[in-house]
Amino acid sequence: MNSQPASHATTEVGIASIGLQLPSLAFDVRDLASLRGEDPDKFTIGLGCREMALCSEDEGIVHLALGAARRALDRWDGELDDLGLLVVGTESAVDMSRPLSAWVADGLGLRGAVRSYEVKHACYGGTLALRQAVEWKLSGAAAGKAALVVAADVALYEPGDPGEPTQGAGAVAFVVDVPTIASIDVHSHAWSEPEFDFWRPVGQDFPSVDGPLSLDCYKRAAERCFRRWIEEAGDASLSKLEAVCFHVPFPKMVKKAVLALGESLGWSEEVSRAFYSEKVGPTMGWNLFTGNAYTAALWIAVARTLIGRTEGARLAAFSYGSGFGSELLTLTAGPAAIDGAWARDVETDVANRRLIDVAAYQGLRGEREVAAA
Ligand code: CAA
Repeated sequence: MNSQPASHATTEVGIASIGLQLPSLAFDVRDLASLRGEDPDKFTIGLGCREMALCSEDEGIVHLALGAARRALDRWDGELDDLGLLVVGTESAVDMSRPLSAWVADGLGLRGAVRSYEVKHACYGGTLALRQAVEWKLSGAAAGKAALVVAADVALYEPGDPGEPTQGAGAVAFVVDVPTIASIDVHSHAWSEPEFDFWRPVGQDFPSVDGPLSLDCYKRAAERCFRRWIEEAGDASLSKLEAVCFHVPFPKMVKKAVLALGESLGWSEEVSRAFYSEKVGPTMGWNLFTGNAYTAALWIAVARTLIGRTEGARLAAFSYGSGFGSELLTLTAGPAAIDGAWARDVETDVANRRLIDVAAYQGLRGEREVAAA
């Protein structure tokens, strides 16, 4: 076991257990390119994408969120009775009133003296859920109980939309308690600006996107958050980080943001590229197999990056949600990070999933009458 049960010790709080869940299907973006008459290099080199995770007709957001939650709890020494908070961040809600957390609680058999709710702020919702759990613990309101936090999404665009190659799905769940895997610093740096870069009005199946504006907003948010952190923590603070994780709408977005950040900090392009290659690029190893999983995308990168870290290793996590809200968090690896028990979840799901062909993808998207599952 890599974790401890709920405790009253609240001086340090963070991640005590991690679980992930991916759906059972995947589609290669090169096949999507052939379907849409695009050069595959545009999707693989231009956007940096490889495979998108897709739900079968029998799967969906509840399956993902519940699967991740079960896996996180299975790996934790505590009991359901030790939980005082269940919070789910998502932008794939199935109901405007009933929270997704109610479906998760139902599946887990969790009821009673538990605060259970859903958080929405585009891709930033999972981070907000995690922050609320950490702050709830640190405030003393938890009274020794632990929190279960889930970030889960199914990211689909209108067939043929420019966002289609960036689609994906996945869920990450964390038990927030004694930080055996990673402590999360209470101090973080948030930045928000009201914008219409990506939105999905009530009743609309797929998002509307102002692509160029969304790229600019993401880059501006990263620059603002990192600059605020550097002003406070000093220039040397970045070099003390072993890895820097970003929200991953598509991998090239992250590279663009790092290059823009470097330029704003006065770095040479060579320094920015070296920083990206050493500390940022490797964090997205799993995102290449999930595609964008909105609220879960950053936390999939963090979960991947924590594996094998020695105790005391420092990481940063930059969260971005359209609309827009963003936040830079810092984490410190705990003694159980080195073990990386949660790697099995992704390894198992990727090994067992089925790579579908173009016809099956069209069937899944309702573009032709083909059984996809
Ligand atoms: N070979 C290699 N590269 C090629 C190429 C080829 N044959 N053809 C094109 N490219 C390159 C382009 O030069 C471009 O790269 P640069 O930006 O570095 O120049 C890249 O491929 C993409 O090409 P386009 O800009 O022409 O692509 P597009 O306009 O069709 O779509 C997009 C790009 C607007 C980002 C679209 O994928 C999209 O709408 N995505 C969803 C929105 C999104 O993810 N925004 C990110 C910030 S918002 C956020 O983070 C929240 C969230 O999760 C959604």
